[in-house]
Amino acid sequence: AKKPAGVPQAAPRSLNRIGVVGAGLMASQLALVFAQQLQVPVVISDIDQARVDKGLEYIAAQNAKQVQKGRLSHQQAEALTGLVTGSTDKSAYADADFVIEAVFEEISVKKQVFAELEEIVSPEAILATNTSSLSVTEMAADLKHPERVIGFHFFNPVQVMPLVEIARTAKTADEPIATAFDLAAKLRKTPVLTKDTAAFVVNRVLLRLMAEVQRSFDQGTPAEVADEALKPLGLPMTPFDLLAMVGIPVAQHVTESLHASFGDRFYVSQNLQRLIDHGVKEIWSTDEAGNKHIKDSTRELLE
Ligand code: 3HC
Repeated sequence: AKKPAGVPQAAPRSLNRIGVVGAGLMASQLALVFAQQLQVPVVISDIDQARVDKGLEYIAAQNAKQVQKGRLSHQQAEALTGLVTGSTDKSAYADADFVIEAVFEEISVKKQVFAELEEIVSPEAILATNTSSLSVTEMAADLKHPERVIGFHFFNPVQVMPLVEIARTAKTADEPIATAFDLAAKLRKTPVLTKDTAAFVVNRVLLRLMAEVQRSFDQGTPAEVADEALKPLGLPMTPFDLLAMVGIPVAQHVTESLHASFGDRFYVSQNLQRLIDHGVKEIWSTDEAGNKHIKDSTRELLE
């Protein structure tokens, strides 16, 4: 196979224990894919046990689905589920040689996580971020070993989306990048090397498209109309379905972060903010005939 552009000559390191910081949807999906494809122990963590348990339950449920689909035996699914353990204590990452964070998309939170990890892991352990909109350089700025910090950005749903954006900062050494490419191949993903710019490459385009759809939504184009009208473009998922999958608060937060970097090119929707403020999680309800509608109570919030 053709080597992707920019892969350093350095020999990649083999990774025997993976850490994923966070236990939300992205973090759980990451842990699942690492366990499935690498067959090595994976540790997840979060701020409380309930969140950790939710992540572990997601992983067990996904493995159970593979049993239903006839792709795994019960024993294989159990073994896979057993590879992932959860903790509320970062010392669980002590022996990890690759730790990826997928915590709240806020630079201070991410910096804090890396600072704590640096006290625990070996100086060589690779620290990766799954950020979709923040500066990797900034995340590494106060660390003793910024040369082992990389961006390693997956897309939701991680199990099926093929791309990983690998971001290199001015300080990243060759070996972590070579290891990241090797790791992506083992995860059966397609890696690309990007500069450390806000939102790398894909989200600068995808979230811009999403933001424009949301701008037209705020200007009065109903969500159903926008989704229907955009179908001929051949997107794999309609914009509002994608929004539902990513989660309205998560999507809004990332757009706000891009707004901070790029200004009005990334429009932040007032309508979505109103839904978030009222705790509306699902934009669609589906009628008996299978047609999607926005609930009347939700529509009232938007008027
Ligand atoms: N979670 C887990 N697995 C899922 C899933 C989900 N939400 N949705 C679909 N799948 C799995 C199915 O189980 C199925 O698996 P199998 O082949 O092993 O049985 C496989 O995906 C295909 O499912 P479908 O037949 O239903 O496939 P579709 O043709 O509907 O494709 C899709 C599903 C791949 C999710 C497709 O709709 C798609 O590509 N959507 C766009 C997703 C996208 O744009 N993601 C980026 C979001 S932005 C992001 O992540 C960046 C962040 O940083 C903000």
